[in-house]
Amino acid sequence: MNKAARLWKSRRMDELLAPYGNHEFTTRARKVMTSGNTRATLFVPPTPPYAVVGKGCHVIDQLDHEVIDFNNNYTAMIHGHSFEPINDVVRDQLSKGTAFGLPTFSEVELAEVLAARTSIPFWRFNNSGTEAVMTAIRGARAFTKRDVIVRFAGSYHGVHETVVDATAAGIPSSTQDVAIALPQGDVEAFDACMREHGSSVAAVLIDLMPNRAGLIPAQQDFITHVAEITRKHGALLIVDEVITFRVGLGGMHKHYGITPDIMTVGKIMGGGFPVGGLGGNADVMSVFDPATSGTVSLGGTFSANPVTMRAGKVAMDYFNTAEIERLNGLGECFRTQLTEAGIKVTGFGSLARLHEPVNVAELWWTMYHNHVLTGTSTLMSLSTPMGQDDVDRAVTGIVDSVKALRG
Ligand SMILES: Cc1ncc(COP(=O)(O)O)c(C=O)c1O
Repeated sequence: MNKAARLWKSRRMDELLAPYGNHEFTTRARKVMTSGNTRATLFVPPTPPYAVVGKGCHVIDQLDHEVIDFNNNYTAMIHGHSFEPINDVVRDQLSKGTAFGLPTFSEVELAEVLAARTSIPFWRFNNSGTEAVMTAIRGARAFTKRDVIVRFAGSYHGVHETVVDATAAGIPSSTQDVAIALPQGDVEAFDACMREHGSSVAAVLIDLMPNRAGLIPAQQDFITHVAEITRKHGALLIVDEVITFRVGLGGMHKHYGITPDIMTVGKIMGGGFPVGGLGGNADVMSVFDPATSGTVSLGGTFSANPVTMRAGKVAMDYFNTAEIERLNGLGECFRTQLTEAGIKVTGFGSLARLHEPVNVAELWWTMYHNHVLTGTSTLMSLSTPMGQDDVDRAVTGIVDSVKALRG
C-alpha cells in the first residue's frame, strides 16, 4: 500500500474509532466487563458500538449513528426490529405471564408449525442453538448407545465442548476421544474415518453451508454420500440448520433431498427471543420422553417459555413461502450486484459473506461508517422489511468501503 493510502486509512480509522473509544458507555463497560460486552462474536476492536434503538432494518447507536442492519443479530432477526405483529403477541403474553412451572400450549403450536414446514414430526425446545446442538448430541448418544461425534472442521455449532476444537482454551483434551473433526467435502477422509470408527459413531453433525468455513453451499454428491454412509454404520445424521433454516420453508436440507435424523434450529424461529429447537422422528425423539425409563432428562427453566414460543410462531407465520422467495431473490440480487462491482462474495438465499483480503476489523468499521452493519466476520443476512433500495444502498456502502481499504 502506498504512503498516501496508508495515511488516509490511519486518519479515517482514528476519526471513526475515537468517539466510541472515548464514550462514557465504553469507560463504564470496561469497569465491569473485561472487553466491555458479553458476546465474543460482537466484539470488534478496539471497542464495539452499543445499539440503542432498532426499527425495521435500521439500528441507531449511542452516537445517533444510523446503519442498515445486514447483521440482524447474526441472521436471527428475520423481520428486522420491533415488528408490530410480534410486539402485539408479546404484549399480550406479558399481560398473561411470561414463564410457568407448567407447560403452555404455545409450545405445541410452534411444534405444529415446525412439523408442517419440515415434515419432521416431533420437536423439543430450549434457549439457544448451542443447547439445541448439545441436546441433539446427547440424544444421539443415548439413542445409539455410542459416544463418538463426527463433525466438520471450520463449522460453528455453538460453544458446547464436543463441537469446539479439542485444543481450544478450556476444552478438556479428552474431548478428542469422542469428537472427530474432518475436512468438509473430503469423501476419502470421511470414508476412512467411518471405516475405522463407524461402529462407535453416534452421529455425524453437519451444517450444509457453514458460515465460518466460508458460507459456501456443500456439494450435493458429498451430502448424499455422507447421509448414506452415516446410516449404513447405524449412526444418526444431525443437520444443524440454526442459520440455514431461513433459506427454505423446511430448511436447506430440502434442497439436498435428505432427511435428517435430528434437525437443529434456532435464531429466526424465536421471533427475536432466545431459542433453540430440535426435531426428529418418533423413535429418535422418544429418547427425551420422561414417561419412559432410561431416557435423557431434558430440563431448562426457561425452555419453551410462552413469550419465545408465541413470538416464534408469529415470525414463522409471516415468513411464508412468498416472503422466503422474495427475500431469497433479493439476496441473489445483492450477491450479483456485489460480484459485478468486483467484490468477492459467497452465500445462498438471503445469506451472504464477503471475502476480501483486507483487515476485517477495518472493513467492518469502514462499512459501519458507510451505514452498513454486518457481522464482525462480514456475515450478512436480509430481513423482510428490506427492499431493493436497501440492497442498493448497502452495495454502495460496501463497494466504497472495500475500494477505500484496498488502497
Ligand atoms: C450453525 C450454528 N449452530 C449453532 C449455533 C449456536 O447458536 P446460539 O448462538 O444460539 O447458541 C450457531 C450460532 O451462530 C450456528 O451458526
